[in-house]
This record gives sequence, structure tokens and C-alpha cells, in this order.
Amino acid sequence: MSARSLIHARGLVAAAAVFALAACEHSAPPQSSAAPVPAAKPGRPAAVAFTPPPLRAIPDDAFGAEVRKGEALFRHTATTAPQYVGNTLSCQNCHLDAGRLADSAPMWAAWVSYPAYRSKNQRVNTFEERLQGCFKFSMNGKAPPLGAPELVALEAYSYWMAQGAPTGTKLVGAGYPKLPKPAQGWDYARGKQVYASHCALCHAADGQGLLVDGKTWFPPLWGPQSYNWGAGMSRLDLAAGFIKANMPLGNGNSLSDQQAWDVAYYIDGHERPQDPRYLGSIEATRTKFHDGPYETYGRIAQGRLLGAGVGVVGGSTVTRESAPRAPLAPRLRD
Ligand code: HEC
Ligand code: HEC
Repeated sequence: MSARSLIHARGLVAAAAVFALAACEHSAPPQSSAAPVPAAKPGRPAAVAFTPPPLRAIPDDAFGAEVRKGEALFRHTATTAPQYVGNTLSCQNCHLDAGRLADSAPMWAAWVSYPAYRSKNQRVNTFEERLQGCFKFSMNGKAPPLGAPELVALEAYSYWMAQGAPTGTKLVGAGYPKLPKPAQGWDYARGKQVYASHCALCHAADGQGLLVDGKTWFPPLWGPQSYNWGAGMSRLDLAAGFIKANMPLGNGNSLSDQQAWDVAYYIDGHERPQDPRYLGSIEATRTKFHDGPYETYGRIAQGRLLGAGVGVVGGSTVTRESAPRAPLAPRLRD
């Protein structure tokens, strides 16, 4: 297939996927609802179902204007907040349907879950601080200062979306689904195969997605324009949960759990921008921030030590080829 017809074919797939997302937007009932769902585990409160209001219900006043500003930031982050974004992603690339879709860490569920304790920084974080984290890590950028107009607009959008949602209760569809641990562990070669048959059409064989005239049609999954090593998506459990529920786009929950874990490992087995908390060596950074069971940073994949970072690091460009090879770090095992 020629490059041109490939772009055309991928554009059609994108159009279908966008249509699928638009369709779920319009089928949302006009009012928000909060109804208990049975099936609580003994000793745990029942999760509560919630549907956010449709976008057409955004009020036509000064508050509504702020909500719309937040929605635009959420959809087109790299172009509307370039000073805080270091890649070509937007918030909605990982929080689908502009942060409205259940099981893709929707903003209505997040809004009512903060302030919350986070083991990532070992203290209680406000919602605004949580937003700062996604700028720093997922967007490989710079955290806007507390009170920055961009954060206020994103808060207004999330708050508006959560109207009528109860606080202090787990909402159905909050966060990414938690998959059971994979029976066969995870495997690079199996993941590569899943990637080739279910993902490469849109995200491209080299994982760099499709960017045309500055517009991201399909986001990159690794490399210099992707999320960095400090981002949640670089953790296998979070990536596998997101992928299982949401990918291939428009056909979520079609992969087996095992396929989702394997392809998550394949993606996070590639190099990406350095963790901004880098402590001067991969090993020190791994020990302090990446010691969990679902981390690939500082581990070896395909004979190479992951965590060198790609993109501009300290003034020189690091590529996968110039990254240290495994024998330099014999103590680190896969
Ligand atoms: C590369 C993917 C990615 C991008 C891009 C991204 N996020 Fe996230 N975000 C995540 C992951 C992963 C989590 C953790 C989800 C979980 O814990 O289940 C998360 C969590 C969140 C949460 C907390 C959700 C909760 O339920 O506690 C908020 C709020 C959030 N992101 C906002 C944003 C905003 C705003 C942007 C854009 C500035 C953004 N994210 C961009 C991946 C991303
Ligand atoms: C039909 C095209 C399509 C296919 C096939 C597809 N994706 Fe995606 N993917 C997208 C689009 C588009 C987004 C961004 C969603 C948005 O902005 O609404 C995305 C987002 C993502 C993200 C989060 C954003 C990022 O850059 O990290 C991950 C991870 C991901 N896809 C992984 C996969 C995996 C793994 C597969 C194969 C199992 C897959 N995708 C198949 C179109 C696709």
C-alpha cells in the first residue's frame, strides 16, 4: 500500500472510531443520574452508577464559558496549553470521549475522589495537584502553577461534569479497570504479535502513530513524543487495564486479559522520555520510584536496559541505539 493510501485508509478507520465516540456522546440521557448498583462485595459499600450530563447542557453564562474552555484544553492540550506540554498528546488520548467515558479514568469520577492519598508522593493530594501530575508525566511537560487559568478551567469542566454525583462512594467506571494478574506473566514476543495484528494499523508499526499538519490522529505509544517514564501508563497494570477496556479504539474488551498484559509489556518495553524525577542513574531512579511489580523502568527488555530516556536529555539527543546495553547493568534483571 502506498503511503498516501495508507494515510487514507487509516483516516477512514479514525473517522469510524470518532463516529463511535460521538455516538455514545449523543446517546447519553439528558439528566445526570445516581443510582445504587447491587453486587457489593460483603463489607464494602456498593459502587454507584453515574452518567455525566451531555455537553449541550453546558450553561450559556460565564461559568459555562469556563467549562467550555476546560473542555477545549482537555481535547487539544498540546495546542491550547503549549507552555505546559512536551509531547503531541492531549488529555483525551487516555481519558476518552473528552474525559467522559467510564473505564478510561473519567473526570466526573475523579472529581468526587479528591483530596486523596497517593502512594506516588506519599501524601494527600488535591484534585488540582492530580492535574499537575498528568501535565508533568503523561504530557511530558511542566506542571502549571496552582491557580493557573488552565487548571481552573479543567477543574470547572470536571466539576460541571460531576454534578449530581455522590462523594465518598466508589462510582462504577472510575479509573481504569483492574485486571487479574496474568496466568502466563507477560511476554514481549507475544505482545509484539498482538500489536502487529490489532494496533499497528492506527499506531503504526514503529509506535509513532499518525500526526498530520500538527494534528494527532493516532497518538504515539513510545519514543520522544509519548508519555514519560514517570507516567501512570508506563505501569503495566494501568496500561493493561486501559487497553483491555478501550483498545482497539471502538472495539474495547475484545482482547483477552492475557493479550492486554502482553501488548502493554510490548509498549512499555520501549524507550520513552526520561522520568523528570531522574536521580542521575537509572538504578537510583529505579530503586526510589520504580520498585513495584508492574514497572519496566530499569529492567531489561530485548537485551537492553530500559530507562535511558529518548529525546533531548541534558542537551544531547539520546536514541534507543545510544542507550546503555544490558551488560552495563548486570545487577538489574527482567
Ligand atoms: C498517556 C496517557 C495519559 C494522558 C495523556 C493523560 N493522563 Fe490522566 N491519567 C492517566 C493514567 C494512567 C491515570 C491513572 C488512572 C488510574 O489510576 O486508574 C490518570 C489519572 C488521571 C486523573 C485521576 C483519575 C482518578 O480517577 O483518580 C486525572 C484527574 C487526570 N488523569 C487528568 C488528566 C488531564 C487533565 C490530562 C491532560 C492535561 C491527562 N490526565 C492526561 C493517563 C493519562
Ligand atoms: C482504530 C484505530 C486504533 C486502533 C486499532 C488502536 N488504537 Fe489505541 N488509540 C487510538 C486513538 C485515536 C487513541 C486516542 C483516543 C482519543 O483521543 O480519543 C488511542 C489511544 C491509545 C493509548 C493511549 C494514548 C497513548 O498515546 O498512550 C494507548 C496506550 C493505546 N491507544 C494502545 C493501543 C493498543 C495496545 C492497541 C491494540 C490492542 C490499540 N491502541 C489499537 C486508535 C487506535
